[in-house]
Amino acid sequence: MRLNDQQMAAFESDGYVFLPGLFDAEEVGALMGEVPGILSQQRQEVVREKNSAPRTAFAAHLWNEAFGLLARHPRLIGPAMQMLGGPVYMHQFKINAKVAFDGDVWQWHQDYGTWAEDDLMPEPKAMNLAVYLDDVTEFNGPLMLIPGSHRHGKIEAGHDTATTSYPLWTIDNATIDQLVARGGIVAPKGKAGSALFFSSLLVHGSAPNMSPWNRTAVYISANRVDNAIRRFKRPEWIAHRDFTPITPLDDDCLRTYARRKVRAA
Ligand code: SIN
Ligand code: MN
Repeated sequence: MRLNDQQMAAFESDGYVFLPGLFDAEEVGALMGEVPGILSQQRQEVVREKNSAPRTAFAAHLWNEAFGLLARHPRLIGPAMQMLGGPVYMHQFKINAKVAFDGDVWQWHQDYGTWAEDDLMPEPKAMNLAVYLDDVTEFNGPLMLIPGSHRHGKIEAGHDTATTSYPLWTIDNATIDQLVARGGIVAPKGKAGSALFFSSLLVHGSAPNMSPWNRTAVYISANRVDNAIRRFKRPEWIAHRDFTPITPLDDDCLRTYARRKVRAA
C-alpha cells in the first residue's frame, strides 16, 4: 500500500497521518483474540504498571503468529518505506494495554529522544505505525500529539525513571507549553482497526485511563536500515538488533490467518 499525496503532505507538515478503518473487524478480531493470552504471560517482555496491571508487551511479533503477520503487513510496512524513503527494519514492537481504570500515564516525549540517548540511533529516520485494537475515545486515554512539533528536531529531555514502571526521556512542562501554544494538541479518535502513523520526532503522550474501557494499541517502530542503532545497552527485546529489511507479506495475510483459526476451532 502507498499513501496518496495528500497523506504524505500531512505527514510532512503535521508529523502524523491518521487512517480510520485501515484494518477490518476480521483482522482486528484475529489480533485481539491473542491479546489476553499475551498480556497474562509472566515473562520479561510483559512490563507491568506499578499497580501490576499489564502496561506493555514487547516483541510479541517474535513469539505470537498473528502479531508476527502484523509486523510484516503491507498496509504498515509499505507506507513506512515510503515515508522514511528506504527499506526498514523493526526497531521496537510493543502492544500497549492501557487497561481500564489501571492504565498509567505516558509522559510527554519524542520517541527519538529515547532512541538517540539510549540506543545511539544516528538520525530520526524512524517512525511509529500504531494500530488501535480497541475503539479509542476521549475517555480511555487517547494518544495526544502536538502537531508540527517534529519540525523542532530533537528536543532536550530528562530521564524519568520514577513516574511510571517504564523509564522514558521526557520533555519539561515549559517546553510543552511553548510547543502547544504553536501547534495545539490533537487526539485522533477512532474505531478499532484505525491506524496512526507518526514521526519519531513528534511530541506525544497520554493520560491515565480512568474509564471502564481498555485502550489496547500496537506500536510498530520502524527504522531505516541505513540508520541502525549503534549502542546495545537496552535489552534486545526492547531495542532490536536484527537489522534485516522487512519484506511485506500479502495484503490478505491476517484474513487468511483468521479463517484458518476459525476452521481449526
Ligand atoms: C508511546 O508513546 O510509546 C505510547 C503511548 C501510549 O500508548 O499512550
Ligand atoms: Mn512514544
